[in-house]
Amino acid sequence: MANYRSTDWFGKRDKMGFIYRSWMKNQGMPEDMFDGRPVIGICNTWSELTPCNAHLRDIAESVRRGVLEAGGFPVEFPIMSLGETLLKPTAMLFRNLASMDTEESIRGNPIDGVVLLTGCDKTTPSTLMGAASVDLPTIVVQGGPMLNGKYKGHDIGSGTNVWTFTDDLKTGKMSYAEFTEAESCMSRSPGHCMTMGTASTMACMVEALGMSLSGGAAIPAVDSRRKRIAQLSGRRIVEMVKEDLKMSKILTRSAFENAIKVNAAVGGSSNFVIHLTAIAGRMGVELNLEDFDNLGSKMPLLVNLMPSGKYLMEDFYYAGGLPAVLKQMSGQLDMDVLTVTGQSHKQNIETAGVVYNEEVIFPFDKPVIAEAGIAVVKGNLALNGAVIKPSAATPALMQHRGRAVVFENIEDYHARVDDPNLDIDETCVMVLKCVGPVGYPGMPEVGNMTLPKKVLAKGVTDMVRISDGRMSGTAFGTVILHVSPESAIGGNLGLVQNGDMIELDVANKRLHLEVTDEELAERRKNWVAPPLASERGYVNLYVNTVLQADKGADLDFLVGGSGSEVLRDSH
Ligand code: FES
Repeated sequence: MANYRSTDWFGKRDKMGFIYRSWMKNQGMPEDMFDGRPVIGICNTWSELTPCNAHLRDIAESVRRGVLEAGGFPVEFPIMSLGETLLKPTAMLFRNLASMDTEESIRGNPIDGVVLLTGCDKTTPSTLMGAASVDLPTIVVQGGPMLNGKYKGHDIGSGTNVWTFTDDLKTGKMSYAEFTEAESCMSRSPGHCMTMGTASTMACMVEALGMSLSGGAAIPAVDSRRKRIAQLSGRRIVEMVKEDLKMSKILTRSAFENAIKVNAAVGGSSNFVIHLTAIAGRMGVELNLEDFDNLGSKMPLLVNLMPSGKYLMEDFYYAGGLPAVLKQMSGQLDMDVLTVTGQSHKQNIETAGVVYNEEVIFPFDKPVIAEAGIAVVKGNLALNGAVIKPSAATPALMQHRGRAVVFENIEDYHARVDDPNLDIDETCVMVLKCVGPVGYPGMPEVGNMTLPKKVLAKGVTDMVRISDGRMSGTAFGTVILHVSPESAIGGNLGLVQNGDMIELDVANKRLHLEVTDEELAERRKNWVAPPLASERGYVNLYVNTVLQADKGADLDFLVGGSGSEVLRDSH
């Protein structure tokens, strides 16, 4: 009989063995489930408060079927689920908490291999981070995107059209009745946002890393092939346990480099930077902002999906999905890396990877945009760097010099942005402070500030915006994000004043505040740190230990892993 990790529980022939097995038998498990077969944890982020993951109980049943077919013992368990739309103050505040839940739930239980069921933005990185710190054989089953939104004969995309509808409501182009009607037209099936927002980005990241079966990223949540891949993943994880194919054998430096390049090709979210860095940190692979710029910024955009392009995830799936992108990008990628199939990307896509619609997936030599990956800018305004997603920006604003209009925090922004007396026009640079990891806390997705009403009324759709926060992966605009160090801990962003001139030059990777070092030193003397909401509980732990955005915003003591050994055995 094979000696798996779970044998330390269910293989015992003493009092504790009795206890471990007997209580499990209250669920009706027959004796032979404890005969030394691999125990597979189905880590479920299902929650009705995470609408994007509300179908995952159903998907778990397909995984369970696959595990049983392959001779494994499936055990489903819940972990903290992070719903992007409902959770306040921001789901990102709890990504690291959910990762701790995942890590300790896996390590403390008789589990030999893990299936992560993910969907909404933060449920993917949180579970991957937690699982990486344990390093068991692990496979991801993505929940899949919603069907395309349909409104008045047109396709509409999650998130992306929320921004345009909000502008239209503000300027009177849309009535409130139309606005509410559009809500149900946008979200008309189970699944996550069907634009190339953060959830789709994470789904593609997982597949590019080799952590899901080939083709797993794009299948719509309600397509029967979603259940099929879940069942096949259930079968496969049992084999992975027998092969001892741990996460660390898949998540190598080359796998992370592949993911960075693929993220450019799919037009993935700027949030990708923060999450991939955090996952790499758990795996002991060092990634820094320069890696994203060096590896990704020259890569082409091939996938024509909102918010960078026109189509949606359902179209992407029918056009060939990620296998087709991998094939187009194969000259740029390390196609020999190992994946959860036990084979390389090259082997996985041998008979796949066909592009069925070149309007949706462009050829490598005729891309949507030639250089589209996340770019990094640095300067006295962001000494440790900041990021921009060029594919979602306005080319004419990528080199821009403008007068700063400063909002001290998000409440100040809401209070004044539409004030007719606000001294602002489209040439200005909007600056938002105190929305970084510590300052808010949790680094909310507010960096793509809606433009002032009086600017929108002129028909202007974009301005340069700078903050230490994030933006939704479904958003667009010339938006500088993740400024590090953040304003709340004394970064120079906190010293910007109304009227200062700011120069952005993405091509030359420059973000410069035209204020002398002497003047900045003078301002620093009078700078007062904002009060932090950190009296007790998890938030206290978070603000006192969170790393800056350029380090992945993990908690400092969570970086790295502890393996699968339990700390002590009180039994
Ligand atoms: Fe859940 Fe967009 S809100 S994926």
